[in-house]
Amino acid sequence: MKKTTEESANSRAHPADLTTLPEWSVFEQAARSAKVDTSRLALINAAGIDLDISGQHASPALTEAGIALLEARNFEEQRRRLLEGDIVNITESRAAWHTALRAPAPKPEIAAERQRLFEFIHTADSKRRWRNIVHIGIGGSDWGVRLAVAAFGYAGTWRNVHFVANIDGHAIQGGLSGFDPHDTLIVMASKSFTTAETLENGRRAREWLEAAGVADPASQMIAITARPEAARQWGIPEAHIFKLWEWVGGRFSLWSAVSLTTALAVSADVIAGMQTGAAAMDKHFAEAPIAENAPVQMALSGIVNRSVLGYGSLNIAPYDFRLANLVPYIQQLEMESLGKSVDLNGASVKVPTGPAVWGMPGTDAQHTFFQWLHQGSDGAPVDFIICAQADHGWPTHHRILLAHCLAQRQALLQGKSYEEALEECMASGMPEDQARWLAHHRVYGGGRPSNLIVLPRLSPYTLGALLALYEHKVFVQGIIWGINPFDQWGVEYGKQLASGLTRELSGEAVGGEGYDASTRYWVDRLKGLQ
Ligand code: F6P
Repeated sequence: MKKTTEESANSRAHPADLTTLPEWSVFEQAARSAKVDTSRLALINAAGIDLDISGQHASPALTEAGIALLEARNFEEQRRRLLEGDIVNITESRAAWHTALRAPAPKPEIAAERQRLFEFIHTADSKRRWRNIVHIGIGGSDWGVRLAVAAFGYAGTWRNVHFVANIDGHAIQGGLSGFDPHDTLIVMASKSFTTAETLENGRRAREWLEAAGVADPASQMIAITARPEAARQWGIPEAHIFKLWEWVGGRFSLWSAVSLTTALAVSADVIAGMQTGAAAMDKHFAEAPIAENAPVQMALSGIVNRSVLGYGSLNIAPYDFRLANLVPYIQQLEMESLGKSVDLNGASVKVPTGPAVWGMPGTDAQHTFFQWLHQGSDGAPVDFIICAQADHGWPTHHRILLAHCLAQRQALLQGKSYEEALEECMASGMPEDQARWLAHHRVYGGGRPSNLIVLPRLSPYTLGALLALYEHKVFVQGIIWGINPFDQWGVEYGKQLASGLTRELSGEAVGGEGYDASTRYWVDRLKGLQ
């Protein structure tokens, strides 16, 4: 008899509860007794990026336990399945094959779509067409493009680009303002082509073109989607619809035609370079032994920090102004992927999973929240990211920037004892009783974990490799925790509720059942307001 979907899902061999594994107990114990050893230098080079993990808890026993844990989790087989495009996203019955989009020799249908995209870009560039771009998309259909455009167009781009993601009408108002509608291309990026924000903002953009007397507004619109039929219904011409595949998760769509805006703003070479760098990291991930595998080692220390030492968050500190958007990019990647507490069997994971991710570029971050990192009661592991060489002509700036980064990391790592603080206070000549009191305020705990990630310089290649480094780290953590890092059911419920509430607020539906008292109050009070 044919099995029901539920039966066949249940009959699949899912990994056991992590905490029942003897390998987990050994790992946990080794992690508890390991320390940050300030005399240790531990470097891994991956795809041209140096990862310095000296600032993490380490010991030979922990290294061994990490290898055993990965074996117990069938890591090599899981990695093969990811890289070969097997169905790894089992709750949505899909592959998560973003690596196929950046493979040096892609499958013919991927190569053909890439070719179409490059031809479109070439035609637009050679005709000097589209002085302005309005990129409409949200989440994965936005952050990666924003990141790349800011990283390589920080000093200005020949096309003006505005990004519109939020449903807040001020966003689209600002996004369209100042642009000549006759020389503006509207790029709508949406894998599902059902996302409320993107469709509503797209409608405003189309009305704006119509109002300006553009004869055929759809001819100035592009759709990048896995649902071409929905884009066709919008009247978008076939030549302006670029394909996304179902097996490309939203937060990985940077590697697809979603990056059209990047190419139009800062050149097609940027997307090609990013793909090459990411492919180099894929190769490293696939081939490097575990002890020298950068994503795997980052994943393991992340598990130590979160599930053993109990750090609830991870701070991302790029010491590069151009990488400001790396923070929300990694936030989505990590938190949408690992913000789950149910394993593949549907059981609760018994250890804390994905941390909250937050951050800001240094040195601004130092003047905002580093106090908390140094002396707050919780603290957080930090990923410091620097470029060894800058691309401006002011070496002094770069030296100061690097010095600040190394100094913050050193302070977190080494700390300062009460005795050292006291000696410092006494040396400044203050009276002893004051020195004894003040020294308490000048103590740094130290031993706070960090990574230092060093890019030789910021290039499309190194940025691509950096993003793939984080992607694979997240994947490995998903394997260890036994969760699916490729779905995002948690976001869906809110969307469902919002659609009912939108109908209530606009008067299309009345008296919806099941509202809590406060929601009911606010629906009634806000209904009908402009
Ligand atoms: O936030 C949920 C989500 O589905 C993300 O995973 C995705 O990147 C975003 O919404 C946008 O989705 P779409 O590309 O389908 O518009």
